[in-house]
Amino acid sequence: MPRQTLIACCSFVGTYAFGGLDLAATLPPGVAAGATAAVAALGGVAAGRLAKSDDADDRWLNDWTQKTRGAAALWALMDCGIVDALPDRDCPGLSSAELIAAARETSERAPAADAADAVARLLRHLALLKFCDESPTWRFRHSARSRAFVSDDLARSRALSNLSPALVRPWWRVSEALQQNEAPFSLEHGEGAWDYLSRNERDASHFDSLMKGLSEKGGAERSLVALGASDAAFAWSELPQRSRVIDVGGGEGHLLAQILKNHPHFVGTCVDRSDVAARASAYLSNVAGAEAVAGSFFEQLPAGDVYVLKWILHDWDDDDALRILQAVRKSMTADARLVVLERVVGDARATDAHMWVCFGGKERSTAAFEGLLGDAGFVTRSITPLDGDALVAIECETRQ
Ligand SMILES: C[S@@+](CC[C@H](N)C(=O)[O-])C[C@H]1O[C@@H](n2cnc3c(N)ncnc32)[C@H](O)[C@@H]1O
Repeated sequence: MPRQTLIACCSFVGTYAFGGLDLAATLPPGVAAGATAAVAALGGVAAGRLAKSDDADDRWLNDWTQKTRGAAALWALMDCGIVDALPDRDCPGLSSAELIAAARETSERAPAADAADAVARLLRHLALLKFCDESPTWRFRHSARSRAFVSDDLARSRALSNLSPALVRPWWRVSEALQQNEAPFSLEHGEGAWDYLSRNERDASHFDSLMKGLSEKGGAERSLVALGASDAAFAWSELPQRSRVIDVGGGEGHLLAQILKNHPHFVGTCVDRSDVAARASAYLSNVAGAEAVAGSFFEQLPAGDVYVLKWILHDWDDDDALRILQAVRKSMTADARLVVLERVVGDARATDAHMWVCFGGKERSTAAFEGLLGDAGFVTRSITPLDGDALVAIECETRQ
């Protein structure tokens, strides 16, 4: 699009963005399509209809502030065992001193015995946000929300990983990162996310649990169980006995385990960084035909019949994503297949900026994936939305 037209579109967008107008109906033909795409790229909504923001006062800002602080308080009180020490809803509630005493029985990271006043104030902040219940005498117990939360492993690992200082502090370096054109995560930690996780076992274990939980029972990701079980996104049933599935960057091996459980006549290899592969070996030790090996997806990978790349490319910029695909392509025989599982932009808007802040990556459109795959020597056979969600399975074969 010529620069002048783009500027014109942007000023239309500026004029109309707050009115919630339907651009396609409002703008001259031809201009509408470009403006709509620009709005979507700038964080607007799909389908040409703009988000309506009709808060006339700044209460929303107060709300964001309290929740931002609440997120840090929640992480801290989980990390030090206080949330787990909360009594059930039918109990009278415990004082913060009693909660600290209980946490000190189970957690090495429990607060100091004389931190009761601070713990009570933090719990009151969480009670304000309806995370737990408080009494007028500053006794605390579970609310329905915190009760459900502590027994839900996925919610726990979401909080412990996504709200951790490791992944949140880089967000507070974004302004500097933009000025210096640096990656926020490296600015904060002095190294990239994968090197950081290799050296920080606690953060790594929360991150890997989150990946595993999302594969097993996350919302959109529930469909991965379907991916392992049915031919919905990939025709597993057409593969011969003893076919080998290579899960590239497969984390602790959860997706591979799912696939082999449903297709016991296959064998499989999970490839990941050495510390993750060690955990994957333990996890896969009870899964027949499964193994985990340490390796890098920038280098030669084991020989296999189907290669799976789930949530790998979105961690990397285009140059590195292309290098990964080229390494996979080189490791493949002519009739091997590749299945890429990713979210697509638009629906993946909530994670797009985070992929840049913490991993230097980005979410992509299906067209962008096809472009990268084509550049790496693949031909796309099918693109299947899983469960009607933002996750797509892109099945490819090598271009001969
Ligand atoms: C976002 S996680 C996805 C994990 C898994 N595929 C899933 O969907 O749950 C990205 C994975 O890539 C792995 N990884 C990062 N750099 C790698 C490399 N150079 N070689 C192999 N794996 C790597 C990480 O350890 C991590 O397990």
